[in-house]
Amino acid sequence: MLDFVFDAPKKREDAAIAVLLNHFDDLEESRVVKKIGKGIADCLKNALVAEDIKSGSKAVLKTYHGEVPCFAFEVDDEHPLKFGAKIYSSLRKYMNATLYVMDKLSGEYMEKLLIGMENANYSFDKYMTKKKPEDFDKLETVNLINAQQPDMEKIAALTNAVRYARDLGNEPANRLTPYEFIKDVERLNYLDLDIEILDEEAMKQENFGLALAVAQGSCNPPYTAVLQWHGNPKKKEFDCGLVGKGVIYDSGGLSLKTASQMRSMKQDMSGAADVVSVMKAAALQKLPLNLVAVVTMVENMPSANSYKVDDILTSMSGQTVEVLNTDAEGRLALADALWYIQKRFKVKTLIDIATLTGAASVVFGGLYAAILGNDDKLIQSLMKSGETVDELLWQLPMNPEYDKWINSSVADMQNIGKRGKAGTATAAAFLQRFIHKSTKWAHLDIAGCECDEKTQVSTGFGVMLLCDYIEKLC
Ligand code: BES
Ligand code: ZN
Ligand code: ZN
Repeated sequence: MLDFVFDAPKKREDAAIAVLLNHFDDLEESRVVKKIGKGIADCLKNALVAEDIKSGSKAVLKTYHGEVPCFAFEVDDEHPLKFGAKIYSSLRKYMNATLYVMDKLSGEYMEKLLIGMENANYSFDKYMTKKKPEDFDKLETVNLINAQQPDMEKIAALTNAVRYARDLGNEPANRLTPYEFIKDVERLNYLDLDIEILDEEAMKQENFGLALAVAQGSCNPPYTAVLQWHGNPKKKEFDCGLVGKGVIYDSGGLSLKTASQMRSMKQDMSGAADVVSVMKAAALQKLPLNLVAVVTMVENMPSANSYKVDDILTSMSGQTVEVLNTDAEGRLALADALWYIQKRFKVKTLIDIATLTGAASVVFGGLYAAILGNDDKLIQSLMKSGETVDELLWQLPMNPEYDKWINSSVADMQNIGKRGKAGTATAAAFLQRFIHKSTKWAHLDIAGCECDEKTQVSTGFGVMLLCDYIEKLC
């Protein structure tokens, strides 16, 4: 994590300087000149004129004061996280930087700003054996002048959780099998989390019929992890239950994807990565509430042993499912996990998060995740959290008509709806058949949001959002 130092006396020369202003025009004001010094203020003012940058444009102003690079930014009131990322990307090549905060920013704003910086301080380069030192980011220390100090422990917990989810998402499936994933999660027991692992045998005992069918084509056996956080031990109930899609690799199975569709399918476990990361964040912060999470980890592969189109499966709930496409595997694994968590625990609200349908990615292009569910208040709260952390959600309808589309002529339901039609909503309709009437439930389809479009690197989308939501439950 970046080392954020508040109003410390100067120990060494700045490698870079950055000034945060409301408007570039403020460079004329004497209070600003006094704080940053006339030399730097003059340099910035000259650059403003030379580059014809308008006050209010929110451009990045860069110049040099002697050898030292100097930046000025106009504060983005609405999006502190994005603003933090923007500052980081300007400063990433310098060992240390001093950030002058000219106008008071609230503790809450500072918290988001620093999280934005730290979340931008991420790269997945552990497998690059030839990367040169000059290619690495150098920024280590950020001295903050005139800034309110936010809750640094909270910042550390949240950014740690986001990093954890990204690391899991980026790890390829040859290195992160269901077993490796579960081993990694087990290491979280250094925190006060209760962690249980169900292996294939235990999953058979518990009748994970749908999840086991998805997994049977792979030589890497499935596992389920159950994580509990008891931050409010006086209460028996869980304030929230979380379920994440954990498809370690989605080749499509016998309904095999094309080569280009298979790209990034190592990240089809991003929902599970999010869920365990949120549990980690809750434990790191010792949040005073109770949470339970279930992730079922499977690999969807074609083989002589794969489940097949036309197969009829029996779920843990007892309902039967006709398989019409083995690539609609996520909903199968999720259905059993959703049933299991409701059967075993008292959960008031239940949220699942999944890279479930290509249709969500087609509709929103990664700018929004789809949200559906049976409780408007829950959906509204989650959408609000999404806005707070720049992880936007857009609601799609749970029209009972979509539910009819998954009726099968030979089983209780089929695993897909109508070809090319409302794929995200029919997937949600499928999941709803495994939700108790009394459970308040929301489903987040994050397909397209889980990885950066350009680099394909995992974003950890959903961690900040769910952390914001559960913090507000406290
Ligand atoms: N994991 C995919 C969905 C996905 C696609 C996530 C692209 C991220 C990016 C899911 O398991 C899948 O293959 N869904 C199918 C369902 C179809 C067969 C009804 C899809 O969306 O094409
Ligand atoms: Zn699939
Ligand atoms: Zn999938």
